[in-house]
Amino acid sequence: MEGIDRNNLPQHIAIIMDGNGRWAKTKGKLRLFGHQNGVKAVRDTVKGAAEIGIKYLTLYAFSTENWTRPEKEINALMTLLVSAINKETKTLMDNNIRLSAIGDIKKLPTKAQKELQEAIEKTEENTRMTLVLALSYSSRWEILNAVQNIIKDKKKAGEINETSFQQYLTTKSVPDPELLIRTSGEYRISNFLLWQIAYSELYFTETLWPDFRRADLYKALLNYQNRERRFGKTTEQLQK
Ligand code: IPE
Ligand code: IPE
Ligand code: MG
Repeated sequence: MEGIDRNNLPQHIAIIMDGNGRWAKTKGKLRLFGHQNGVKAVRDTVKGAAEIGIKYLTLYAFSTENWTRPEKEINALMTLLVSAINKETKTLMDNNIRLSAIGDIKKLPTKAQKELQEAIEKTEENTRMTLVLALSYSSRWEILNAVQNIIKDKKKAGEINETSFQQYLTTKSVPDPELLIRTSGEYRISNFLLWQIAYSELYFTETLWPDFRRADLYKALLNYQNRERRFGKTTEQLQK
């Protein structure tokens, strides 16, 4: 935590939590064991983010493409989702964290939808940080969905600009992430927040998700703070 400049924190951090299966494999266990231990990493990262002063944390928990995994793994993940939300709502309340979700939530099992909705309502008034779970989410789904709704609303071509388009995205009430983290040594985006990460700083770590803790988050923050975000300008312009 020391060394992190509190005046130069990203408002929003997004994380692609990857590597649960490989983590389990190195321990000779089933993939589910990795997912279960991934919940511990979520708990510590969420608390650590709130503690340092992050306002929005988005976690990629289940992608549209993940529906193509073996049915047994999908079912186990959905069961784990229900129990994790149920158990962790208290953590969210204790830490003044609001829960929200993005993605094609209707695709989730009814039980999971209900649990999620309950936790969202219960934490609605919390103000320290917003935790956004990306569930049954993919960026292409989101963008196509936005385009369909724009057409339904009979918008004119001239009415669509970056600001109005953003209002049709599931992240409309959240600023773009300044920092995107992916664990497990994979260097790809996997259909996550394509519009929103246009100018995000990308941070990749070899750490497998179940081993990720707040210290790893703070390491990423320190790295982020040593970068120069130029947004197309020159260094000289920034120094003026
Ligand atoms: C990330 O871990 C969790 C989900 C995608 C649900 P993986 O399950 O992708 O683990 P690896 O990448 O196979 O190790
Ligand atoms: C990305 O992880 C999705 C989530 C973390 C939920 P995957 O493990 O599904 O990504 P790919 O398929 O290896 O790119
Ligand atoms: Mg993976």
